[in-house]
Amino acid sequence: MASSIKDPREEVLQAWYMDDSEEDQRLPHHKEPKQFVSLEQLAELGVLSWRLDADNHETDPELKKIREERGYTYMDVCEVCPEKLPNYEEKIKSFFEEHLHTDEEIRFCAAGSGYFDVRDRNDAWIRVWVKKGGMIILPAGIYHRFTLDESNYIKVLIVYDSTNDSLTVAN
Ligand code: LAC
Ligand code: NI
Repeated sequence: MASSIKDPREEVLQAWYMDDSEEDQRLPHHKEPKQFVSLEQLAELGVLSWRLDADNHETDPELKKIREERGYTYMDVCEVCPEKLPNYEEKIKSFFEEHLHTDEEIRFCAAGSGYFDVRDRNDAWIRVWVKKGGMIILPAGIYHRFTLDESNYIKVLIVYDSTNDSLTVAN
C-alpha cells in the first residue's frame, strides 16, 4: 500500500515545534508531548528538503540537477568543529542569532548533524534536524538560526552563485 511506505527523507530530516526553555541550545527542545512537523508542512512554509547520497555527492545526479536549475556553480564545505572552523566560539554564537537573508539558504549535510530552526507564520520556532544525507533550502526572508546538536559536529556543503548573501554568516 503506497500510504504505508515511509518517505526516505524522514530518516535524515525531522522537524518539531520547540519548547521555550532556556536550556542548552544543543538539546532537542521538544515540547511535552512532542509535536512533530511533517516535511509537507515545512514545504508549505517554503522549506524544501531532499535526501541525497552524502558519500557520492560529487556525482549525485539529483544534486547536479538542483544546482543546474538554480544556477549554483560554486560549492564550499564548512566543518563546524573547533579544529576546522576559525573563530569557532564566535561563529557558533552568530549562527544561532536569529537572522534572514534576501537569497535562499541551501545546506546539505555531508556528515554529522545539526539543527536549523525556522519560524513558522505565527513566529513559533520549528526545529529541523538535518542528518547525513539531508538537504534543505530555506526560502529567502524566513527567520532562522543554526546550532550543532549534542553530537557537536556537522559537515555542511554549501552550493551557491556568486551573489548569494546567505554566506555572510557562514563565512
Ligand atoms: C547561515 C546559517 C547559519 O546563514 O543560517 O549560514
Ligand atoms: Ni542563515
